[in-house]
Amino acid sequence: MPCAVIDLFCGIGGLTHGLTRSGLQVLAGIDIDSTCQYAYEKNNDAQFIEADVAQLASDEIVSLYPAEVVRALVGCAPCQPFSKYTQRYRKDGHKGDKWKLLYSFAEKVTDILPEIVSMENVPELASEPVFDDFRNTLTDLGYHVSWSIAFCPDYGVPQGRRRLVLLASRLGDIKLIEPQYTPENYLTVKDSIGMLPPIKAGQSSKDDSLHTAAQLSSINIKRIKQSVPGGTWRDWDENLQLTCHKKESGITYPSVYGRMSWNEPAPTITTQFYGYGNGRFGHPEQDRGISLREGAMLQSFPPDYDFLPPNMIVSKKELGIHIGNAVPVNLGVAIGESIRRHIEEVN
Ligand SMILES: C[S@@+](CC[C@H](N)C(=O)[O-])C[C@H]1O[C@@H](n2cnc3c(N)ncnc32)[C@H](O)[C@@H]1O
Repeated sequence: MPCAVIDLFCGIGGLTHGLTRSGLQVLAGIDIDSTCQYAYEKNNDAQFIEADVAQLASDEIVSLYPAEVVRALVGCAPCQPFSKYTQRYRKDGHKGDKWKLLYSFAEKVTDILPEIVSMENVPELASEPVFDDFRNTLTDLGYHVSWSIAFCPDYGVPQGRRRLVLLASRLGDIKLIEPQYTPENYLTVKDSIGMLPPIKAGQSSKDDSLHTAAQLSSINIKRIKQSVPGGTWRDWDENLQLTCHKKESGITYPSVYGRMSWNEPAPTITTQFYGYGNGRFGHPEQDRGISLREGAMLQSFPPDYDFLPPNMIVSKKELGIHIGNAVPVNLGVAIGESIRRHIEEVN
């Protein structure tokens, strides 16, 4: 039987794209943020449903699955609730709100009882009580559950990100496939973005409006010129160092304002990768931070993934958040391959 997938909290489609590339059919993605719709639908043959997962009736999700399929419900719930009113994550929300969407995910599983469930999240989730609650809910419903912390370079992502991946099935044992790469053949920054045309800080490529790098202040230009790949701010002249670097607290963040190395996987692409000062987000040899396109490619999005319609105004900061929040596409491929092989085994 074919497998049909619905992707909760689908964003701009990193997970959906990976699952599709592994051969699964993704029917629809559900997300509260309408600015994700264009990228989601333009690059994936799946419907975008703008809705709050916590409010959406489970019956509506059930009605999306055709008959005679193995139903998979997948998702990557954010740890901060999103406010439709402010169009922002509410970091200042009630403490009890944190992870509430993961409880909504568990409720949907309870109502729908899909044959397969996949949940991806930050590794820190493993030590949160909600994670025990999520697993216990699934086990009590009769699911076989496994989880692990995946190191993304092991799955062809040119980035040292770690993610928690949980897989569950009512059909039998399921687990994430074995690593597909070893440290000897990990994809590097050069493999991923080395072919892109050079640009300067504050400029865009004429061929790709997403290959655009943030403006740098004159002091930050001086800093990046003195930064060496993989080095720290300690490589700079003393007059360029920030006051916080000189304090005890600054010493714990040696990689801020750092440059990536060509021959290694990139550091984790966070939601703030578009700012040179927010991590080791300097280009390996050009005097600028990485562009939005480079961040997306380091998340293993294909180079032609289309994020924005020509006339849509979305801030670079906002698009950077969507890209940094995405499940790396190649990790999505590994999750899809795990589901595909499992279905073959149990059929
Ligand atoms: C971590 S991102 C998901 C990334 C996505 N899976 C991908 O691979 O590109 C979390 C997403 O949850 C969405 N979201 C937040 N609150 C939501 C809610 N109540 N209902 C539906 N989606 C929500 C956000 O808009 C965001 O796109």
